Amino acid sequence: MIAKGLKGIVAAETSISHIDGNEGRLVYRGYEIADITEKCCFEEAAYLLWYGVLPDETQLQQLKTELKNNRQLSGSMKTIIDQLPPSMDMMSVIRTAVSAEGSAAYSWKPDVSQAIRLTALLPSIIAYRNSMLEGKRYSEPVESFDHVENYLYMLKGEKPTRAHVEALETYMILTLEHGMNASTFSARVTASTESDMVSAVTSAVGTMKGPLHGGAPSGVIDLLENISAEGTVEGVIRRKLQNGEKLMGFGHRVYKTHDPRSLALKDKLRELVGNDEWLDLALIVEEKAVELLAEFKPGRSLYTNVEFYAAAIMKAVQLESSLFTPTFTASRVVGWTAHVLEQAEDNTIYRPQSEYVGTFVKSSINL
Ligand code: ACO
Repeated sequence: MIAKGLKGIVAAETSISHIDGNEGRLVYRGYEIADITEKCCFEEAAYLLWYGVLPDETQLQQLKTELKNNRQLSGSMKTIIDQLPPSMDMMSVIRTAVSAEGSAAYSWKPDVSQAIRLTALLPSIIAYRNSMLEGKRYSEPVESFDHVENYLYMLKGEKPTRAHVEALETYMILTLEHGMNASTFSARVTASTESDMVSAVTSAVGTMKGPLHGGAPSGVIDLLENISAEGTVEGVIRRKLQNGEKLMGFGHRVYKTHDPRSLALKDKLRELVGNDEWLDLALIVEEKAVELLAEFKPGRSLYTNVEFYAAAIMKAVQLESSLFTPTFTASRVVGWTAHVLEQAEDNTIYRPQSEYVGTFVKSSINL
């Protein structure tokens, strides 16, 4: 029997996160996600995923310092980014820049310091490229700002508001890790060949880019803008479903109920923007889309996934839609690297099989 897309196949044991798709539950290293977003900062959650335990105050400060010490882009990295054509999309830029980071410092066996370095670098790569595209001076990282505040600062060139930092931090913590998703699987497959951590993350970035995975939030904005322009929620959704199109921000391989990350982001968004035209539209679209998905795809249990309200959160903190997937990448790199470390601890190369459905030619080749 073939499991297309490896649906339902358990390919590894992990102690990094647990997802209960029927209950709508997500757990990082034993802790419920709602507890983590309420009580932890980005660095604490990252420490938990990498080390398996929450840090004490000294360990937390040490991690913050290590992240700060690794934020600077080298001259050669800046030159490489400068030379990429302006038309190249941000995910391709990240993939190229991360790949260019490869050196002996990342040779097998991977360690946490490599994970910290890559996590620290990603916001700088994104912000450097963004400033170049916008024709603005690059805002170098600021020592006194923690990871998320510094990321927003580098993107905007000014100190972000507390509310914006908190909203983005909630999003980034919620998306740090999510089991054996497509990009994490890519990272683990690459690591399983005893290739280096940079190669594993480069594979993962390429996988993240696709619209069925990390590329969905921009699709959500397109959907909402489409609806707004046409002035009809039901008309647009019905047409898309009749044409066999997927509604971006809905459905999930694992969740067969509400994605808990989507619920948490919806709450955060309400807190952040209060009454807002965009949020009101998103709520109406969610309700109508769930109703129509049940009509067109009965029995499939399709609800919003994390990307639906992620798009609205990122819009609320005034990030351009071209930065949505890159921002997701800047958080998910923590999960990827945690999985690479776990894979390295008990490695078996991934090598599934395929079933040949081609023909067998009876005569020999006669040229
Ligand atoms: N819109 C319309 N129909 C959908 C959607 C959707 N968003 N999602 C699933 N369906 C349909 C499928 O077409 C399928 O119909 P069928 O049984 O008639 O063939 C049925 O529901 C079951 O869905 P699958 O495709 O089997 O679900 P799968 O687990 O393979 O895919 C996926 C999950 C890729 C997320 C899918 O729901 C999708 O494409 N959603 C839209 C893109 C999106 O939002 N991606 C972000 C996911 S979250 C993340 O990656 C971080």
